[in-house]
Amino acid sequence: MTETGTVPAASDPVRTEEALPLYRYFTSTVALITSGAADAGTNVMACEWTFNVSYRPLRMMSLVKRGSYTHELISAGGEFGVNMCSDEQAALVSYAGNSHGREVVKLDDPLFAGGIYTGKRIGVPMLRGCVLNLECVVESTVEIGEHTGFVGRAVAGLANRSKQPLLYNRGRFFRLGDLLAKPPAAEPATGE
Ligand SMILES: Cc1cc2nc3c(=O)[nH]c(=O)nc-3n(C[C@H](O)[C@H](O)[C@H](O)COP(=O)(O)O)c2cc1C
Repeated sequence: MTETGTVPAASDPVRTEEALPLYRYFTSTVALITSGAADAGTNVMACEWTFNVSYRPLRMMSLVKRGSYTHELISAGGEFGVNMCSDEQAALVSYAGNSHGREVVKLDDPLFAGGIYTGKRIGVPMLRGCVLNLECVVESTVEIGEHTGFVGRAVAGLANRSKQPLLYNRGRFFRLGDLLAKPPAAEPATGE
């Protein structure tokens, strides 16, 4: 028997926001966003909502909650570091995503010891051990709900082919699984 207006529970047990927020069914990569501004210090936060939004020039967008220290620093400094995490960096993400830069200088934590380098083109610390590092200058912003989307043009970058991305799903961390055989007719969907 099915309830009016719903699909059968057996085929889709998660039907409502009450059962489990549906956004948790997305899988994302995770960035550590670094920021800094003169006389205001530096900071790092975890940000799964970080995407590339144009290829040439390469632009990134990070959605950062208003009221966070990161939001304040990016707004003041006009630049941010996108550090796309490797599958060895879950502990850094967990720490940076559950602590607050107004209360603690996160980058001084031993977790980051030896893992910081100075941005080449921006005045923001960058992190070692990542899949990809992009130094970004804010070009525009967009307000979406409780978050601001900072769109940044990448002015310097570094990729590390030996690292694999960290994945995040339903509050848990994963690494990439098996490589699938490429379907015969598959075309890249990148526009490249
Ligand atoms: C895995 C993970 C992903 C997160 N993704 C986001 C995100 O996309 N946007 C956001 O505003 N906060 C995100 N957060 C929460 C922030 O990292 C968190 O609020 C942090 O304490 C903000 O730090 P700050 O106040 O020092 O800037 C995430 C947290 C975790 C653990």
